[in-house]
Amino acid sequence: MTAGRVLLCALFATRVVALDLEPFVLGAFVQSATFSIANQLGFFIAQGLDVTFAQIPNSTFGYARLLDGTFDMVIGTIDNAVNLRFNQNASLTVVGQLDGGNDIILAGVPSVTSVEDLRGKPIMVDSASSGYVFLLRKILSLFALPPSDYTFQAHPLTSTKVVGGTSLRFANLAAGSLPDGTPVFGTILTYPFTGMAAHLDTPLPELARASTFVAPFSSSSVTVATSAFDDLSPASPHVRATAALLAANRFLASQDPAQIQCSRAAIASELGIAPDSTLLDAEFMAATAPVTGETAQVDFEVNSVGLWSVVDLRAQQQAFAGAGDRFNFVDALQPGPGQLIDNRMGDAAIDIAGTIPVPSSCA
Ligand SMILES: *[C@@H]1O[C@H](CO)[C@@H](O)[C@H](O)[C@H]1NC(C)=O
Ligand SMILES: *[C@@H]1O[C@H](CO)[C@@H](O)[C@H](O)[C@H]1NC(C)=O
Repeated sequence: MTAGRVLLCALFATRVVALDLEPFVLGAFVQSATFSIANQLGFFIAQGLDVTFAQIPNSTFGYARLLDGTFDMVIGTIDNAVNLRFNQNASLTVVGQLDGGNDIILAGVPSVTSVEDLRGKPIMVDSASSGYVFLLRKILSLFALPPSDYTFQAHPLTSTKVVGGTSLRFANLAAGSLPDGTPVFGTILTYPFTGMAAHLDTPLPELARASTFVAPFSSSSVTVATSAFDDLSPASPHVRATAALLAANRFLASQDPAQIQCSRAAIASELGIAPDSTLLDAEFMAATAPVTGETAQVDFEVNSVGLWSVVDLRAQQQAFAGAGDRFNFVDALQPGPGQLIDNRMGDAAIDIAGTIPVPSSCA
């Protein structure tokens, strides 16, 4: 009942004000809990935005669409932004940090029950040099698997060593093979797929949990083209989208039982999972987990220690070639105008976020 009611309310609101809504394309790998709440509880609509969720197939594609203006905003791993900005001087800016590595695990097919079982096997990744690859390599190295002991799974269509974003990798892992029948063995999973993997009829083994080894870790972040900072007025669609996400994130953090009920209903509707299921319990727990979840950061503040972990992991893999030997990371990671991280968008959004009407009950 709860999920249906929430969805109906959102649809009703869309119908009433549809003519006035401004289109806004938000690219992301997964529907985060924060996005689910903003979308299902009508927060974007309250900000006059008709938000399209664009599922990103792989990080290269997703950030290219942000830079060419196809996407207005991308929620993705902050390592992508660090890479594009410091190695390629790309004009993109981090608005804030959404999570600390939400439910990131190394998972296997049922026949792979330990990290050791991955020795000599191909492992599925999104990109051979970004995203979670550095985290994956770190975990494997701690289990005495140096890079020479495994490969990255080749994609049968593109012949690159890239399978794609987490939703694609989860589908392949659950199927036990790539679409062409090539067997698969393991990959990194994140929210909401970690919970889903554990709730399959034949659950997929959790081989290692990232936060056991690297924490805090700055993971998903809200990213926009730097030009979006030219307009920080309340009329800016980027400011309004940020406000809706901020309000949703605060709502997710609420301890009020009625609001928790609404958050759970929104997550269930967005992900198409059963209300009152143990899977929904697992997803809500992951989204609100201390350190790794979406409520670990207050109002999207970037965790500076978590960001140093991101830089360390990338530096350990010699993946800052474009930045040069004398690159000053300390200066470059200071938040400010023109910097990688710019808090002005969040500051502009915060007052607006407080005015967004929130449901008092979804029962
Ligand atoms: C990323 O996705 C795009 C769009 O689906 C696809 O054309 C491209 O080949 C993918 N890139 C890689 C490296 O797989
Ligand atoms: C990096 O990009 C900025 C903004 O587009 C530009 O002003 C600057 O000159 C670029 N720096 C380098 C080293 O290319």
